[in-house]
Amino acid sequence: MEVVGFDKEGAGYDRAKEVKEFEDTKAGVKGLVDFGILKLPRFLIHPPESLPSSPTSSNNTTSTLQVPVIDFAGYDDDDDESCCRRLKIVREIREASEKWGFFQMVNHGVPVSVMDEMLRVIREFHEQSKEVKKEWYSRDPKVRVRYFCNGDLLVAKVANWRDTIMFHFQEGPLGPEAYPLVCREAVIQYMEHMFKLREILSQLLSEALGLKRDYLKNRECMKGETVVCHYYPPCPEPDLTLGATKHSDPSCLTILLQDTMGGLQVFHENQWVHIKPMPGALVANIGDFMQLISNDKLKSVEHRVLVGRVGPRVSAACHVYPNTSYKYGPIEEFISNENPPKYRETNIGEYLAHYRSKGLDGSKALHYFRL
Ligand code: OGA
Ligand code: NI
Repeated sequence: MEVVGFDKEGAGYDRAKEVKEFEDTKAGVKGLVDFGILKLPRFLIHPPESLPSSPTSSNNTTSTLQVPVIDFAGYDDDDDESCCRRLKIVREIREASEKWGFFQMVNHGVPVSVMDEMLRVIREFHEQSKEVKKEWYSRDPKVRVRYFCNGDLLVAKVANWRDTIMFHFQEGPLGPEAYPLVCREAVIQYMEHMFKLREILSQLLSEALGLKRDYLKNRECMKGETVVCHYYPPCPEPDLTLGATKHSDPSCLTILLQDTMGGLQVFHENQWVHIKPMPGALVANIGDFMQLISNDKLKSVEHRVLVGRVGPRVSAACHVYPNTSYKYGPIEEFISNENPPKYRETNIGEYLAHYRSKGLDGSKALHYFRL
């Protein structure tokens, strides 16, 4: 059946057709900007209740709160004094992951030059001609490097103002020929640092959960990653759309690199809190799968991205996933008669299939797995 929507005036509106015509350009929202559009096509316009200009208080950013900033300096030294440093870092991670689901990291070991270069090449990829980018356009989840506009474009009710290039490392490293030339070297270098930081965080999170340092590693809870590199072009009508609808991440953990433009917000204590870009910082957030295996001890918190009239904004989100062939449920150490498991066992494939079938519709995929 063809899905036909009606606008306020009652005239027919064929969303599927509009989306298909757009999809066939393979040029993303950047293509709309290059074309010189001054008004947003209807499929990109969000309902008033999910827009920041909405009169409902929970949608206004009035908060002056700040996501915790954690200094990782000294996390790995062995003398007595540094041992206290590590305990302090572990405590800060635990508190932030329980209360916010988010924290910013400084002195995490990834050189600023590597992060800057990563942001530069993502921008460069997205600013190539559409003929060049087209070759990489795909919605096939088996393709390990692909470019697309909105992973859920064909299922979601509204589309977001962003394009993405995605690199899939869950089955191991990619050969150099798998990368677009413009970003090959920088992404390979950035990923070497992500693999290291993932190991560090896997240990610190194990300790934050009160478990042995190697617990999450031995269970392969943080085995591989998918990196999504977003490009949010300047938007002619920023009050009518979003860069990313309110969502939580399906991963165990996400390590996010953002540029200086701002726009990322986290929903905390019933209000939206701006995650201020900080020089040299990386953002970490707990994903749904970590909330599931920790039986709700750590929180996967909803966030969104606003867009601006000026831009572009560029970011790279490294989503860390568990072993794809294992089943996971809430870990035994947290289960007792008083604390029964809150979720049924599942594997990341099943979790992602459910997550994707919903699209970014503002509701949480985790509810579906609750006992
Ligand atoms: C994501 C995400 C935020 C950003 O990729 O899941 O939330 O700032 N990205 O791009
Ligand atoms: Ni996210």
